Formats: sequence, C-alpha cells, structure tokens
Amino acid sequence: LVILLISAKAIAEEGNGNAEQPAEVKKSDFPDGFLFGVSTSSYQIEGAILDDGKSLSNWDVFVRKRGSVNNGDTADIAADHYHRYLEDIEIIHSLGVDAYRFSISWARILPRGKLGDVNPAGIMFYNKIIDNLLIRGIKPFVTIHHYDFPQELLDRYGGWLSPFMQDDYVRFAETCFKYFGDRVRYWITMNEANLLSELAYEKGIYPPGHCSPPFGNCSAGNSDIEPLIAMHNMLLAHSKAVKLYREQFQHKQGGMMGVAVSAMMYEPLSDDELDKEAANRALAFSLAWGLDPLVYGDYPPEMRRYHGKELPTFTSEEKQLLSNSTDFIGLNHYATVYAKDCIYSNCMCSNTTCLPGENRAIKGFVSTITERDGVPIGEPTGMFQTFIVPRGIKEIVDYAKKRYPDKPVFIVENGYCPPWEHGEVDDLQHDTKRVEYHKAYIASLAQAIRDGADVRGYFIWTLMDAFVWSSGYDLKFGLYSFDRVTLNRIPRLSAKWYRDFLRKTSLKD
Ligand code: NOJ
Repeated sequence: LVILLISAKAIAEEGNGNAEQPAEVKKSDFPDGFLFGVSTSSYQIEGAILDDGKSLSNWDVFVRKRGSVNNGDTADIAADHYHRYLEDIEIIHSLGVDAYRFSISWARILPRGKLGDVNPAGIMFYNKIIDNLLIRGIKPFVTIHHYDFPQELLDRYGGWLSPFMQDDYVRFAETCFKYFGDRVRYWITMNEANLLSELAYEKGIYPPGHCSPPFGNCSAGNSDIEPLIAMHNMLLAHSKAVKLYREQFQHKQGGMMGVAVSAMMYEPLSDDELDKEAANRALAFSLAWGLDPLVYGDYPPEMRRYHGKELPTFTSEEKQLLSNSTDFIGLNHYATVYAKDCIYSNCMCSNTTCLPGENRAIKGFVSTITERDGVPIGEPTGMFQTFIVPRGIKEIVDYAKKRYPDKPVFIVENGYCPPWEHGEVDDLQHDTKRVEYHKAYIASLAQAIRDGADVRGYFIWTLMDAFVWSSGYDLKFGLYSFDRVTLNRIPRLSAKWYRDFLRKTSLKD
C-alpha cells in the first residue's frame, strides 16, 4: 500500500508539474475534510421577486432601466429556484458535494431593512433550504450579502455610499445569525465588495449605476472616490457584523466568519522591474484592498501611498474592530491578466489589449493586458478579459498565503463560461471545455496545497445557468442548463464529470 501511495503521489506530482496540462487530479489528492461544493446566489436563481412579502431589491429596479442588462433580461423568474428549491437540492445532492454555497435575499427577510419587521415567509424559505441540505449531509455555506439589498435602502441612503448602511447591514446579519446560525457553520459576510465598488460606483454597470469618466454614460455618476467610500462602508459593516457574531453567537454556534473577494491574478507583462511592481500594485489595489483591512486593520500601504488623502481613513477604534475580523478568506477566482506599469511608462491601450481607463488611480496606475507578443494569455472564455490560465489559481493562493499566512482559504467560486457569440447548443451541453477547465484548475490548486497552502474548499460557480448581472442570461456558467420556458434542469457533461470526480473518494476507487 505504501508503495502504491508513494507512486500515486509521484504520478500526481508529475502530472501537476505543468499546471497548464490538464492532469488527472483526484479527490483523494486533497486533505481530509476538504470541502467540494457548488455556489449560487439568491438574486441570480430565485426569481419570485414579489412573492410572500419580499420587497423589490436594488437589482429588481435596476434591470428595468433601459440598457442596463443585455437583451433587457430580468431575474423576475430566473431559474425559479424559489419554487423549485427541493428539486435543486436533490440535484446538488446527486452531485455528491460536501457543501453548498448560497446567499440570502435581504429583501426577502427584511423587506424594509432595519426599519421594518422580519418577514417570516422569507425565514421559512431559507430554513427549508438549510434543513433539506443538512438532512442530506450537505453543509450550508451561507453568503449574507451577494449584491442585492432592498431598494428602499438605496432610496433612503444611497446604498453603500452611506455609513447608515452599516447598521442596516448589521441588523440583517444579526437576523441571519439568530434564525439560521444554529445550523450554519460557515458564513461569508459579503461577496466581492472590491468588485462591487468598482462596478456599481465606477463603471456604472451595477446599481446604482454611478460612473466616473471615462466609463459609461455618467449621467448619474460623479466622483472618482465613490468606489473608495462604498468599500469603506462595506468593510466597516463586515467588521461590525463579525464583532456581533463573536460576542453573541459564536460561542453557542461555533461557526466561522469569512468574506469572499474577487481575486484576479496579475502577472507582470515583462521582466521589467516596473511591470513587476505594477503587478504587485495591482494585487494590492484589488485583493489586498478587500483583505488587508480585515487582517491588519488598515488599507494596503501601496494604496495609501498612491491615493493619499482620497483614501478614507479608519479611526483607531475602527482599526481595532477591523483587525483580524475574518476567520477565513474566500477567493472568487476567474481571471489572470498581465499588468503593465502606467506610472513611468507610456500606456497605449488598444481595445483588445488593455481596458481604456484602467491605468487610473483606482487601479494603481496599471494597465491590464491579456496578450504578450500577440499571444493571448490563455484560451478565451465568454467573460470579458477572462482567459483559461490554470496556473493563476495557484499563484493567487500563493499570494494570499504569503500576505496572510495565518488565514485559511476557501475557493468559493471558480467557473467557466463559453464564448457566447459562437456557442453551439450541442457544445454548450457537451461541455468538454468546462470539464477540462475544472480538471486543470483543480490540479493547479492541489499543487498549491502540496506546496503548503492551507486551502480548505473549492466551490464551482455554478450549479445551473443563472442571471449573470448586466450580462443577463448570455453567460452560461452552469453544470446544469435550464430551459427558459419549461424551467427543466438539464445536466451538462460537466455535471456528470463532477459527480464522478466526487465519487472517487479514495485510491481504491
Ligand atoms: C462572481 C459573482 O460572485 C457571481 O455572482 C457571478 O455570477 C460570477 N462572478 C460570474 O460572473
């Protein structure tokens, strides 16, 4: 057996040596207790936007503005998960996952925010989800806030631009701990605050649609510092909710509190020191923007240096509150790009190689570029600036290990969507590319773990096709598709592959 184990390990290591080659990775390459799962979010799948006392969310209102979503799509019905959750839990169970990550619709359980009552029907819905998962031995991994909140909070205070949002959020989180915390061991306070700030308050493609030049039609928009302010409020809201959990719930409920950040990997475009610094700066201005405050109690020094007074400051009490306010780090990893310095170099962007305006302060004066000497960084996917670069997941995990050595990591999203303009229906169902994608990313992750990273879970985005924000239904990330008319769920090849992968739990399988 020992010889078998050693040779299996050697084969695995050899296979994973070049992470770009899809290696035959196995579940048994991962440590005991490692959680494999799938992720979704409330707004993207639930539908039922006004059922049983739910109020309209910021997204329900935003999607109705002309031009805000591809094809004028809405999530009014989405995958109708609100009515089909049992069937969906059966599907999740059939995959054999250890955990399921989903989010709570704020507008469903506190339709008027902290000014109103808790909606019992909303609580009941999530209770049924949690109980049905647990009965099947699936761990609920709950995101409290994943982009959607009651529109009333946007009308009342302008959403995350206002510090008042912090207390409202804490009340929401407290409601979740109170009603669900007896059965939930893994909490994510917020999803991708770092990306949300940018997309909602700089690029204007998420509600409230504010943007700063050169992005969009900035009629609503205004200032370059809005993303910094929104982020500031979200970080403080996170830290206050964690304090409350630790003081009032954790000793009884014993859960872990974490956060999910958008975790794009940046590699230097060239060997030039300036580009190397640019890559480091880009990581500081994206990943560390969301994490340094929650680990060390303040913004990354790199950001302070370049933003100066524009970057809000924390009081010493706030720093204390923030410091070590996350038990784990959740990474949503999709993309790896090259970084090019724009402080000293002349950044010439063409439409294909660099996003105009990305060299602004908010990005650390870095251009993100997706090809070098005419060679794309990886095979294209359907998502903007996103290519298949499996080594990127190891690189971003290694970066987190180095910068936050004591924090366990969960990959809470990683997934593939095909280039949609050319998608053939058959290829969409017979999604060999997605299967290869996950094999390669999982192999690269296994290598990171062998190299000493404390990674404890991997969640595929996503269970089934969903409403993908401003892209509507054009981007298809699902292991399952669903028929937009009958709402029937249809497994893709990748669903079968994931099921097989998860079934083979040990070497003897
Ligand atoms: C990250 C977000 O959390 C999720 O909601 C989204 O659908 C995926 N990225 C893919 O775009």
